Formats: sequence, structure tokens, C-alpha cells
Amino acid sequence: MTADWWGLTGRRVLVAGVGGLGRSVIEALAELGCVCAALDRSADTLDELATAHPGLPTRQVDLTDREATRAAVNEMAARLGGLDVAVHAVGVNDRQPVLSVTADAWRHLLTVNLDSAFHFAQAAGAIMTAGRQGRLILFSSVAGTLAHRDHGAYAASKGALNQFARVMAHEWASAGVTVNTIAPGYTPTGLTIGHLAKPGVENALTGLVPAGRLGLVEDVQGVVALLASPRSAYITGQVIHVDGGRTLV
Ligand SMILES: NC(=O)c1ccc[n+]([C@@H]2O[C@H](COP(=O)([O-])OP(=O)(O)OC[C@H]3O[C@@H](n4cnc5c(N)ncnc54)[C@H](O)[C@@H]3O)[C@@H](O)[C@H]2O)c1
Repeated sequence: MTADWWGLTGRRVLVAGVGGLGRSVIEALAELGCVCAALDRSADTLDELATAHPGLPTRQVDLTDREATRAAVNEMAARLGGLDVAVHAVGVNDRQPVLSVTADAWRHLLTVNLDSAFHFAQAAGAIMTAGRQGRLILFSSVAGTLAHRDHGAYAASKGALNQFARVMAHEWASAGVTVNTIAPGYTPTGLTIGHLAKPGVENALTGLVPAGRLGLVEDVQGVVALLASPRSAYITGQVIHVDGGRTLV
């Protein structure tokens, strides 16, 4: 096997949302030789990343803003000299029983989780389909498949994301662009630590995982490397669970 059998050296990667999981994606792909850039709405999060990776291009943007997202994606693709891999790792959650969810809370969650994916995917997809190659990777969740209580809006956003990805995969396959979603189980990050810190929650959730532990941000790195590689050109339209078996039971 050659040193770069996976063909990742020099791959131009844009990651949108560099909290716990998006940051882990950058750490892995940078180590494998990819050239990475980052988008996030949080200036502090981008500053931390840039400190750890001097020279890595970052740009603050709210991905719910359609025109701003398109401008940011185009600018970063220009700075990278093209775009081979685009990763969407943006999401929020708001745990409430369906009967308590306000219209504003519903709209906010769908806007951040789903509209941002639409804006980002369309901007990145335009570049990659024009270039006749590329990889779009979107972070879904086990909640896109399972019916967790208090997850009405979040589950709706992730189930919709899975179907949105499948349609893009169909439409863009002939242009050499694959589209897949990664569906992690509960993983401690800024998104989940508040919930996991409540009495009994972490133990209860761990008890639902056949592997006997929650996820680590590093657990998504292997599948991201696979999906980013030219070696995975025939894998498209898939929801890949990274969940220690959570969706088996
Ligand atoms: N952590 C988990 O247990 C878990 C499980 C399943 C799925 N996911 C999904 O993985 C993805 C990443 O989650 P995470 O755990 O890394 O969360 P995180 O909160 O650590 O990171 C999310 C990042 O998205 C950014 N962001 C939020 N809204 C934005 C916006 N409008 N514009 C630009 N950036 C925005 C935040 O600033 C943050 O840096 C999400 O889609 C989430 O739903 C996470």
C-alpha cells in the first residue's frame, strides 16, 4: 500500500460548524494531509481553532443567512483553490414534549438545522458539480431514525436532512459528487454536555448503547476520512450510523 493510498493529501476541505464534531473532522483530515478551512458563527470557536492550526483559513458566518453562506463558501473555495470536500456539522437542540413546542422554537430549530444545510449544500454543490467531482458530508443523528421523546423538532430536522441528502445524492451522482450523512449517537460536545450533566441522564443514555459507552468526537474520524477519500466514489446516499449499536435496539 502506498503512503497516500486513501488519496487524501492535498484534498481541499471546508467544514461548516467547528464545535465538537466539526473540530474533530478538521483534526483528522488535517493530519491525513488535507488542506482545511472552517466556517462558524462563533468567533471564539474559530479563534481557538486558528490558534491550534496557524494559517488555517476561518470565516465567521451565520449559515441561516442564505446570501452570506453562499458568499462565505465561494470565498473559502477560492482561498483553498477549489473544493473537494464540504462538511456540514451545524446543529442545535431544544428538548421539549411536542405539546409544549412553540411555533417560534420549531421554526428556529428547523432554520438552524435544516435551512443552514440547504444553503450550505447548494453553495458547495454548485462548485463541486461544476468541477465534476466532490464529497458532501452532512451530520445527521440517530434521532433521524429513532423516536426519542422530547425530540420532535430535532428528529424532524434530522429525518428531513437524511432525505434531502438522498435526493442530492441522486441528482449529483452523474456529476461525480457523492452525498452522505453521518448519524452519531450521544457524544459529549457543547451541544449535549448540559443535558448529560443532569442527574442520571448520562448513565441512562449509556445504558441504551450496546457498546456500553457514549460516543467520543474521535469516533467519527474514520468514517469522515473514508467518505472524504477518492476511494469512496461509489458510496452515496447513505446514512452511516456511528452509534455503538444504539440503533440496533
Ligand atoms: N454531539 C452529539 O451527541 C450529536 C449527536 C448526533 C448528531 N449531532 C450533530 O452533529 C452536528 C455537530 O454537533 P456538535 O455536537 O459538534 O455540536 P456543537 O454545538 O459542539 O457544534 C456546533 C457548531 O455549530 C455552530 N453553529 C450553530 N449554529 C450556527 C449557524 N447558524 N451558523 C454557523 N454556525 C453555527 C456552533 O457555533 C458550533 O460551533 C450537529 O448537526 C448535531 O446535530 C451531534
